[in-house]
Amino acid sequence: MDIFGRTVLLTGATGGLGQAIAGALASRGARVALSARKAEALEELAAKLPGDGHRVLPSDLAEPGAAERLAAEAGEVEILVANAGLPGMGLLSDFSPTEVSRAVRVNLEAPMLLAQALSPAMTAQGSGHLVFIASLAGKAANPRSSIYNATKFGLRGFALGLRCDLAPQGVGVSLISPGFIREAGMFADSGAKLPPGLGTGTPEQVGSAVIKAIEQDKVELSVAPPLQRALAHLGLATPGISVRVQSGAAGQRTSERIAAGHPREKR
Ligand SMILES: NC(=O)c1ccc[n+]([C@@H]2O[C@H](COP(=O)([O-])OP(=O)(O)OC[C@H]3O[C@@H](n4cnc5c(N)ncnc54)[C@H](OP(=O)(O)O)[C@@H]3O)[C@@H](O)[C@H]2O)c1
Repeated sequence: MDIFGRTVLLTGATGGLGQAIAGALASRGARVALSARKAEALEELAAKLPGDGHRVLPSDLAEPGAAERLAAEAGEVEILVANAGLPGMGLLSDFSPTEVSRAVRVNLEAPMLLAQALSPAMTAQGSGHLVFIASLAGKAANPRSSIYNATKFGLRGFALGLRCDLAPQGVGVSLISPGFIREAGMFADSGAKLPPGLGTGTPEQVGSAVIKAIEQDKVELSVAPPLQRALAHLGLATPGISVRVQSGAAGQRTSERIAAGHPREKR
Protein backbone atom coordinates (compact mmCIF):
# COMPACT_ATOMS: atom_id res chain seq x y z
CA MET A 1 0.00 0.00 0.00
CA ASP A 2 1.29 3.48 -0.86
CA ILE A 3 1.44 5.59 2.32
CA PHE A 4 1.49 9.05 0.68
CA GLY A 5 -1.66 11.04 1.50
CA ARG A 6 -3.17 8.24 3.63
CA THR A 7 -4.85 8.87 6.97
CA VAL A 8 -3.19 6.89 9.74
CA LEU A 9 -4.34 6.40 13.34
CA LEU A 10 -1.31 5.82 15.59
CA THR A 11 -1.76 4.93 19.26
CA GLY A 12 1.02 5.30 21.83
CA ALA A 13 2.28 8.24 19.77
CA THR A 14 3.96 10.01 22.72
CA GLY A 15 6.16 7.02 23.58
CA GLY A 16 9.71 6.23 22.55
CA LEU A 17 8.71 4.03 19.62
CA GLY A 18 5.53 5.97 18.86
CA GLN A 19 7.44 9.19 18.14
CA ALA A 20 9.77 7.35 15.75
CA ILE A 21 6.83 5.65 14.01
CA ALA A 22 5.01 9.00 13.70
CA GLY A 23 8.13 10.56 12.16
CA ALA A 24 8.53 7.70 9.68
CA LEU A 25 4.87 7.84 8.59
CA ALA A 26 4.82 11.64 8.29
CA SER A 27 8.07 11.58 6.28
CA ARG A 28 6.32 9.23 3.83
CA GLY A 29 3.53 11.78 3.39
CA ALA A 30 0.88 10.29 5.72
CA ARG A 31 -1.60 12.43 7.63
CA VAL A 32 -1.26 11.09 11.15
CA ALA A 33 -3.94 11.10 13.86
CA LEU A 34 -1.81 10.88 16.99
CA SER A 35 -3.27 9.28 20.11
CA ALA A 36 -2.10 8.71 23.71
CA ARG A 37 -3.17 10.12 27.09
CA LYS A 38 -0.83 13.15 27.25
CA ALA A 39 -2.56 15.84 25.17
CA GLU A 40 0.22 18.41 25.46
CA ALA A 41 2.92 15.97 24.34
CA LEU A 42 0.69 15.01 21.38
CA GLU A 43 0.34 18.68 20.35
CA GLU A 44 4.12 19.17 20.54
CA LEU A 45 4.71 16.08 18.42
CA ALA A 46 2.09 17.11 15.83
CA ALA A 47 3.72 20.54 15.50
CA LYS A 48 7.16 19.15 14.74
CA LEU A 49 6.19 16.39 12.29
CA PRO A 50 6.95 16.98 8.61
CA GLY A 51 3.99 17.41 6.25
CA ASP A 52 0.48 18.55 7.17
CA GLY A 53 -2.97 17.29 8.14
CA HIS A 54 -1.79 15.79 11.44
CA ARG A 55 -4.20 15.89 14.41
CA VAL A 56 -4.29 14.82 18.02
CA LEU A 57 -6.87 12.52 19.61
CA PRO A 58 -6.17 12.12 23.34
CA SER A 59 -7.55 8.88 24.77
CA ASP A 60 -7.02 6.65 27.79
CA LEU A 61 -7.31 3.17 26.33
CA ALA A 62 -7.54 1.63 29.80
CA GLU A 63 -11.05 3.12 30.13
CA PRO A 64 -13.99 0.92 29.09
CA GLY A 65 -15.36 2.08 25.72
CA ALA A 66 -12.30 4.24 24.96
CA ALA A 67 -11.14 2.24 21.93
CA GLU A 68 -14.58 2.46 20.30
CA ARG A 69 -14.77 6.22 21.05
CA LEU A 70 -11.28 6.78 19.63
CA ALA A 71 -12.17 4.93 16.42
CA ALA A 72 -15.34 7.04 16.05
CA GLU A 73 -13.44 10.31 16.63
CA ALA A 74 -10.74 9.30 14.16
CA GLY A 75 -13.33 8.99 11.36
CA GLU A 76 -12.08 7.57 8.10
CA VAL A 77 -8.78 5.78 8.72
CA GLU A 78 -6.89 3.94 5.99
CA ILE A 79 -4.07 2.61 8.18
CA LEU A 80 -4.08 1.71 11.89
CA VAL A 81 -0.84 1.39 13.84
CA ALA A 82 -1.75 -0.06 17.25
CA ASN A 83 1.36 0.71 19.27
CA ALA A 84 0.23 1.81 22.77
CA GLY A 85 1.42 -0.59 25.40
CA LEU A 86 2.34 -1.06 29.04
CA PRO A 87 5.38 -3.10 30.13
CA GLY A 88 3.22 -4.98 32.66
CA MET A 89 6.30 -6.49 34.30
CA GLY A 90 6.60 -8.12 37.71
CA LEU A 91 5.39 -11.19 39.54
CA LEU A 92 1.73 -12.06 39.04
CA SER A 93 1.32 -12.13 42.83
CA ASP A 94 2.35 -8.43 42.98
CA PHE A 95 -0.38 -7.31 40.55
CA SER A 96 -3.79 -6.13 41.70
CA PRO A 97 -6.76 -7.37 39.62
CA THR A 98 -7.14 -3.78 38.34
CA GLU A 99 -3.52 -3.74 37.16
CA VAL A 100 -3.99 -7.08 35.36
CA SER A 101 -7.11 -5.73 33.60
CA ARG A 102 -5.37 -2.49 32.63
CA ALA A 103 -2.41 -4.26 31.00
CA VAL A 104 -4.70 -6.66 29.13
CA ARG A 105 -7.01 -3.87 28.00
CA VAL A 106 -4.30 -1.47 26.76
CA ASN A 107 -2.01 -4.12 25.19
CA LEU A 108 -4.55 -6.55 23.75
CA GLU A 109 -8.23 -5.61 24.01
CA ALA A 110 -7.86 -2.04 22.69
CA PRO A 111 -5.98 -3.13 19.52
CA MET A 112 -8.67 -5.77 18.91
CA LEU A 113 -11.52 -3.28 19.36
CA LEU A 114 -9.81 -0.63 17.22
CA ALA A 115 -9.37 -3.19 14.45
CA GLN A 116 -12.99 -4.28 14.83
CA ALA A 117 -14.25 -0.71 14.53
CA LEU A 118 -11.97 0.42 11.70
CA SER A 119 -11.68 -2.63 9.44
CA PRO A 120 -15.27 -2.69 7.99
CA ALA A 121 -14.65 0.60 6.13
CA MET A 122 -11.36 -0.81 4.85
CA THR A 123 -12.92 -4.03 3.59
CA ALA A 124 -15.70 -2.01 1.94
CA GLN A 125 -12.99 -0.05 0.07
CA GLY A 126 -10.99 -3.20 -0.64
CA SER A 127 -7.86 -1.55 0.78
CA GLY A 128 -6.29 -0.63 4.10
CA HIS A 129 -3.67 -1.86 6.52
CA LEU A 130 -3.60 -2.77 10.21
CA VAL A 131 -0.22 -2.84 11.98
CA PHE A 132 0.16 -4.25 15.48
CA ILE A 133 3.29 -3.52 17.52
CA ALA A 134 3.89 -6.79 19.33
CA SER A 135 7.26 -7.93 20.74
CA LEU A 136 9.71 -10.82 20.74
CA ALA A 137 8.01 -11.36 24.13
CA GLY A 138 5.12 -12.60 21.99
CA LYS A 139 7.29 -15.50 20.81
CA ALA A 140 9.34 -16.49 23.87
CA ALA A 141 8.46 -16.15 27.55
CA ASN A 142 10.65 -14.48 30.19
CA PRO A 143 10.66 -14.25 33.99
CA ARG A 144 8.62 -11.37 35.54
CA SER A 145 6.73 -11.07 32.25
CA SER A 146 3.78 -13.46 32.50
CA ILE A 147 1.20 -10.72 31.94
CA TYR A 148 3.22 -8.93 29.24
CA ASN A 149 3.93 -12.28 27.54
CA ALA A 150 0.21 -13.11 27.67
CA THR A 151 -0.75 -9.84 25.98
CA LYS A 152 1.93 -10.08 23.28
CA PHE A 153 1.38 -13.81 22.55
CA GLY A 154 -2.32 -12.90 22.33
CA LEU A 155 -1.69 -9.95 20.03
CA ARG A 156 0.38 -12.12 17.67
CA GLY A 157 -2.36 -14.76 17.54
CA PHE A 158 -5.01 -12.12 16.95
CA ALA A 159 -3.11 -10.41 14.14
CA LEU A 160 -2.18 -13.63 12.35
CA GLY A 161 -5.74 -14.93 12.54
CA LEU A 162 -7.18 -11.60 11.41
CA ARG A 163 -4.79 -11.55 8.46
CA CYS A 164 -6.28 -14.86 7.28
CA ASP A 165 -9.74 -13.27 7.31
CA LEU A 166 -8.90 -9.88 5.81
CA ALA A 167 -6.34 -10.81 3.13
CA PRO A 168 -9.04 -12.02 0.68
CA GLN A 169 -10.78 -8.64 1.15
CA GLY A 170 -7.74 -6.57 0.19
CA VAL A 171 -6.81 -5.43 3.71
CA GLY A 172 -3.28 -6.09 5.01
CA VAL A 173 -2.44 -7.06 8.58
CA SER A 174 1.15 -6.93 9.87
CA LEU A 175 3.00 -7.56 13.10
CA ILE A 176 6.12 -5.72 14.16
CA SER A 177 8.02 -7.60 16.86
CA PRO A 178 10.81 -5.55 18.40
CA GLY A 179 13.37 -6.95 20.79
CA PHE A 180 15.11 -4.67 23.31
CA ILE A 181 15.20 -1.10 21.93
CA ARG A 182 17.83 1.42 23.09
CA GLU A 183 17.70 5.24 23.42
CA ALA A 184 13.93 5.60 23.93
CA GLY A 185 10.91 3.55 24.94
CA MET A 186 9.97 1.27 27.79
CA PHE A 187 13.14 -0.85 27.89
CA ALA A 188 15.46 2.18 27.67
CA ASP A 189 13.38 3.95 30.36
CA SER A 190 13.92 1.01 32.75
CA GLY A 191 17.64 1.80 32.79
CA ALA A 192 18.42 -1.94 32.93
CA LYS A 193 21.62 -3.41 31.46
CA LEU A 194 21.47 -6.51 29.25
CA PRO A 195 23.92 -9.44 29.36
CA PRO A 196 26.75 -8.92 26.83
CA GLY A 197 26.10 -10.04 23.25
CA LEU A 198 22.31 -9.64 23.20
CA GLY A 199 22.46 -6.26 21.44
CA THR A 200 19.64 -3.76 20.93
CA GLY A 201 17.64 -2.16 18.13
CA THR A 202 16.70 1.49 17.63
CA PRO A 203 13.33 3.30 17.53
CA GLU A 204 14.14 4.36 13.95
CA GLN A 205 14.48 0.71 12.92
CA VAL A 206 10.98 0.12 14.31
CA GLY A 207 9.69 3.12 12.31
CA SER A 208 11.30 1.76 9.14
CA ALA A 209 9.83 -1.69 9.80
CA VAL A 210 6.32 -0.20 10.05
CA ILE A 211 6.80 1.50 6.67
CA LYS A 212 8.13 -1.71 5.08
CA ALA A 213 5.28 -3.77 6.56
CA ILE A 214 2.65 -1.45 5.04
CA GLU A 215 4.34 -0.90 1.67
CA GLN A 216 5.24 -4.56 1.14
CA ASP A 217 2.36 -6.16 3.07
CA LYS A 218 4.65 -8.15 5.35
CA VAL A 219 3.17 -10.70 7.76
CA GLU A 220 5.69 -10.08 10.55
CA LEU A 221 8.95 -8.18 10.89
CA SER A 222 11.25 -8.65 13.89
CA VAL A 223 13.44 -5.71 14.88
CA ALA A 224 16.34 -7.20 16.83
CA PRO A 225 19.94 -8.39 16.49
CA PRO A 226 20.50 -12.06 15.49
CA LEU A 227 20.98 -13.54 18.99
CA GLN A 228 17.66 -12.10 20.24
CA ARG A 229 15.88 -13.40 17.12
CA ALA A 230 17.44 -16.84 17.63
CA LEU A 231 16.29 -16.93 21.28
CA ALA A 232 12.79 -15.89 20.22
CA HIS A 233 12.67 -18.65 17.63
CA LEU A 234 13.82 -21.14 20.24
CA GLY A 235 10.74 -20.02 22.20
CA LEU A 236 8.49 -20.76 19.22
CA ALA A 237 10.09 -24.04 18.17
CA THR A 238 10.90 -25.59 21.55
CA PRO A 239 9.15 -23.75 24.40
CA GLY A 240 10.33 -26.31 26.98
CA ILE A 241 14.03 -25.63 26.30
CA SER A 242 13.40 -21.89 25.97
CA VAL A 243 11.69 -21.66 29.37
CA ARG A 244 14.56 -23.59 30.97
CA VAL A 245 17.13 -21.22 29.42
CA GLN A 246 15.17 -18.08 30.33
CA SER A 247 14.55 -19.25 33.91
CA GLY A 248 18.29 -19.59 34.58
CA ALA A 249 20.21 -17.16 36.78
CA ALA A 250 21.09 -14.73 33.93
CA GLY A 251 17.47 -14.56 32.71
CA GLN A 252 16.13 -14.05 36.23
CA ARG A 253 18.64 -11.26 36.96
CA THR A 254 17.99 -9.43 33.68
CA SER A 255 14.21 -9.60 34.01
CA GLU A 256 14.32 -8.53 37.65
CA ARG A 257 16.41 -5.46 36.70
CA ILE A 258 13.99 -4.50 33.91
CA ALA A 259 10.92 -5.02 36.13
CA ALA A 260 12.50 -2.99 38.96
CA GLY A 261 13.10 -0.11 36.51
CA HIS A 262 9.39 0.35 35.71
CA PRO A 263 7.24 2.52 37.96
CA ARG A 264 4.10 0.88 39.36
CA GLU A 265 1.74 3.01 37.22
CA LYS A 266 3.24 1.36 34.12
CA ARG A 267 1.63 -1.96 35.10
N1 LIG B 1 10.82 -0.32 23.89
C1 LIG B 1 11.03 -1.60 23.69
O1 LIG B 1 12.16 -2.10 23.93
C2 LIG B 1 9.92 -2.47 23.12
C3 LIG B 1 10.25 -3.78 22.76
C4 LIG B 1 9.24 -4.61 22.24
C5 LIG B 1 7.96 -4.13 22.08
N2 LIG B 1 7.67 -2.85 22.45
C6 LIG B 1 6.28 -2.39 22.26
O2 LIG B 1 6.29 -1.16 21.57
C7 LIG B 1 5.13 -0.41 21.91
C8 LIG B 1 5.56 1.01 22.29
O3 LIG B 1 6.37 0.93 23.45
P1 LIG B 1 7.43 2.05 23.86
O4 LIG B 1 8.72 1.37 24.11
O5 LIG B 1 7.36 3.21 22.96
O6 LIG B 1 6.83 2.42 25.31
P2 LIG B 1 6.61 3.82 26.00
O7 LIG B 1 7.71 4.78 25.65
O8 LIG B 1 6.38 3.51 27.44
O9 LIG B 1 5.29 4.35 25.32
C9 LIG B 1 4.05 3.74 25.57
C10 LIG B 1 2.98 4.53 24.84
O10 LIG B 1 1.70 3.97 25.19
C11 LIG B 1 0.86 5.02 25.67
N3 LIG B 1 -0.05 4.53 26.70
C12 LIG B 1 0.26 3.94 27.88
N4 LIG B 1 -0.85 3.71 28.59
C13 LIG B 1 -1.88 4.16 27.85
C14 LIG B 1 -3.28 4.22 28.06
N5 LIG B 1 -3.86 3.80 29.19
N6 LIG B 1 -4.06 4.75 27.08
C15 LIG B 1 -3.49 5.22 25.93
N7 LIG B 1 -2.17 5.19 25.69
C16 LIG B 1 -1.38 4.69 26.63
C17 LIG B 1 1.80 6.07 26.23
O11 LIG B 1 1.26 7.36 26.14
P3 LIG B 1 0.69 8.24 27.36
O12 LIG B 1 1.52 7.95 28.57
O13 LIG B 1 0.76 9.64 26.86
O14 LIG B 1 -0.69 7.75 27.48
C18 LIG B 1 2.96 5.99 25.24
O15 LIG B 1 2.67 6.78 24.11
C19 LIG B 1 4.45 -1.16 23.05
O16 LIG B 1 3.35 -1.89 22.55
C20 LIG B 1 5.54 -2.10 23.56
O17 LIG B 1 5.01 -3.25 24.14
C21 LIG B 1 8.61 -2.01 22.98
